[in-house]
Amino acid sequence: MASNPMKISLVQSNLEAVGADLLALPFSSGALKKEAEEALLALGFDIQVLKDFKADAGEIVVLYGGGKKYAAARIALLGLGEAKTLDDWRKASVSFASKAVDMKLEKIAVDCSGIKSLSEATGQSVATLAAALVEGCVVGSYRFDRLKSGKLDKKKSASKPKEIAELLLRVDAPESEEVEKGVAEGIIVASCQKMARDLVNLPGNYLQADDISKAAVESGKKHGFDVTVLHKKQIESLGMGGLLAVNQGSFHPPTFTVLDYKPKGKTKLVVALVGKGVTFDSGGISLKPSENMGEMKSDMSGAASVLGAVEAVTRLGFPLHVIGLIPATDNMPSGTAQKPGDVITTYSGITVEVGNTDAEGRLILADALTYAKEKYKPDVIIDVATLTGACIVALGYGVAGLFSNNDKLADEIFQAGQLSGEKVWRMPLWDLYDEQIKSDVADVNNTGGRGAGSVTAAKFLEKFIDGHKNWAHIDIAGPSFLPKGGGKVNGGTGFGVSLLVELLKKWA
Ligand code: BES
Ligand code: MN
Ligand code: ZN
Repeated sequence: MASNPMKISLVQSNLEAVGADLLALPFSSGALKKEAEEALLALGFDIQVLKDFKADAGEIVVLYGGGKKYAAARIALLGLGEAKTLDDWRKASVSFASKAVDMKLEKIAVDCSGIKSLSEATGQSVATLAAALVEGCVVGSYRFDRLKSGKLDKKKSASKPKEIAELLLRVDAPESEEVEKGVAEGIIVASCQKMARDLVNLPGNYLQADDISKAAVESGKKHGFDVTVLHKKQIESLGMGGLLAVNQGSFHPPTFTVLDYKPKGKTKLVVALVGKGVTFDSGGISLKPSENMGEMKSDMSGAASVLGAVEAVTRLGFPLHVIGLIPATDNMPSGTAQKPGDVITTYSGITVEVGNTDAEGRLILADALTYAKEKYKPDVIIDVATLTGACIVALGYGVAGLFSNNDKLADEIFQAGQLSGEKVWRMPLWDLYDEQIKSDVADVNNTGGRGAGSVTAAKFLEKFIDGHKNWAHIDIAGPSFLPKGGGKVNGGTGFGVSLLVELLKKWA
């Protein structure tokens, strides 16, 4: 699943000499009045354009005709809004790269002369801003077109959307080293995020449990972490009853993949990351309505984020022992499928009444959480899952739900969300919610009725961490996949990669 990354280089030449298809000049709304006029005049452009350009975050105006004086074929005025937050800067980067791809440009440049003052205004380091710029450019230029043959395109074969081949950053000498450091980190995070997005966007007929395992093996070989894949026989002999029950109606066998990154020197912490890998969620016998069911190809987003995060941490060489655990299967109806009312025995020995076969994520996560705690005795356990539609109702498509039994951990994840732009909001885990998942016939029910669906799902998971004191569950049902009409680019987002890297960086 290799991808050709965009080449990124720093240049210290003056603006006139920056040769690119499009050169962005970033302006904050505050700097607009004073600086933009002067800059435009120097470039030989009509300042009338400032009547239309307000420098809102992400706003872009493309100017032509600077070519006589400047090496760049086009200049873009790029709005940074008030330029007080990292989010504004990220939004501008995404919007700029997205515009360049729409224009089918190959070589783009950004004037980073103002990065020092932006660093002061936002309170973020120059390296952090540079990393965010790179990540934003990769995010904004992402298109999922590998399944388009181009055969029906009327125009020449060249009309296949081009990728941005090169990004130039014009920097001043004093900032150069720090920008370089940020760029190096940004490239890694961005490429792992892209890998995750590709996996999420691949439809069910291209990505089965075994393909997730293969992607992990490939990444592990390339970057140097161990991968062990447990196949159906081993899953059976271990007695992972949750994973097996969900897989029961499927033609394709389940897998349980363990990714193990252990740094050379001392390790500060052992961290277990668990990702839900449902390659397609039809709901099973409790079949989902057909409308938009295709979006359920994204039900392995947690798995993709965990894979992306483990690869990133390996490439960044964090001094942490990080274990990724990915239970994977699809959830299908058939004559062999599990039925509502069935009682299953999970890996932990805890019995579950399957009130609804569409509450399958928690069944496979239950086994993985128990396995993680028992086998690796981690200091921290974090699971990431597209667990409940209720979480979208509560928080929408921009924010993930956070549940934790540890206030410090919850706060650190919240802060990582603020920094990475992958926002989370904490929800409660009070025991009063246990009432809803009581079962008459088994230890617990996998459904909790109408109210507080995300909370009862989290309460269910909590039963399987065996009293671990440092656990968090992140419900990414909303932000992992943007439905059509949601944003400009819809589909998989890779949400979680950046968040987890930011969190682990703090502990590194
Ligand atoms: N994968 C879904 C949750 C989901 C819904 C993710 C929409 C992304 C977008 C999950 O397996 C599910 O079906 N949950 C049920 C739980 C219910 C049956 C208790 C839900 O949310 O309706
Ligand atoms: Mn489901
Ligand atoms: Zn699901």
